[in-house]
Amino acid sequence: MTKAFVVGHPIAHSRSPLIHGHWLAEHGIEGAYERLDVAPEAFPAFLRTFRDGGFVGGNVTIPHKEAAFAGVDVLTSRAQKIGAVNTLFFDADGRLTGDNTDAPGFIAHLDQSLGADWVERSGGTALVLGAGGAARAIVVGLLARGVSRIHVANRTRARAEALVALDPDRVATLDWTDLPAALPGTGLLVNTTSLGMAGHGALTLDLTPLPATACVADIVYVPLETPLLAAARARGLAAVDGLGMLLHQAVPGFERWFGVRPAVTPALRDRIVADLVG
Ligand code: ATR
Repeated sequence: MTKAFVVGHPIAHSRSPLIHGHWLAEHGIEGAYERLDVAPEAFPAFLRTFRDGGFVGGNVTIPHKEAAFAGVDVLTSRAQKIGAVNTLFFDADGRLTGDNTDAPGFIAHLDQSLGADWVERSGGTALVLGAGGAARAIVVGLLARGVSRIHVANRTRARAEALVALDPDRVATLDWTDLPAALPGTGLLVNTTSLGMAGHGALTLDLTPLPATACVADIVYVPLETPLLAAARARGLAAVDGLGMLLHQAVPGFERWFGVRPAVTPALRDRIVADLVG
């Protein structure tokens, strides 16, 4: 039986077992996807020994993504750029390989939600709010997808500056106070901060200056309808919620481990939404 895992500390909150369990059942695969709680000090040894436990790979979550980046034998080019690993597998030569599927997950979600021509419709311009790990993955994804101009605005500007190095010709920073002036030239607005998340502060940004063709995406998914997305919809703009990224980032790992490319279907979405609200 093929076995994969999600490893983190703590790990009880992870929805990944539900997602992969849904796909295993859907495809009638006799496999297992297990939740593993491994403390940071035990993680390097875990990386070296999990194969002996019969696992072909797995997902890595907080707080191990950087340790996984440092501990694998090989990195995919996107993991290299993002500086963190969320998916582990063994390559054809048996080398422990680290991938990061957040970037393609975010892009696949946009493609599915907005239609494949969203880059052209958005005029190739994006404004990313936040500059943490998620923002880095999203900027890498947007660059790979061909977005020609990306502005990054962050409370701590120095963190935004670090993202410019990904492609100085296409990525620039913006002061938070300059956001209103940047909105008329923004085709895609993405919130990667924790603002809008249940229990966190609100993201107060007047969306009025955005063009009528703009799309607004949030990576927050608790609640599913953030105040930012509600404001976008009220303005008649396309709004993309954060749950899709969580679902789509799981696809490449499942395909690697179990040999079938799974689909992100309304049934899967409904199942995770029911868990989130239950
Ligand atoms: P993740 O990996 O999810 O991106 P992170 O690295 O902790 O998490 O990044 C969180 C992001 O939310 C950062 O951009 C952070 O801004 P700072 O770099 O200035 O810390 C942003 N953020 C969190 N709370 C915020 C707040 N109250 N106001 C503005 N930005 C906030």
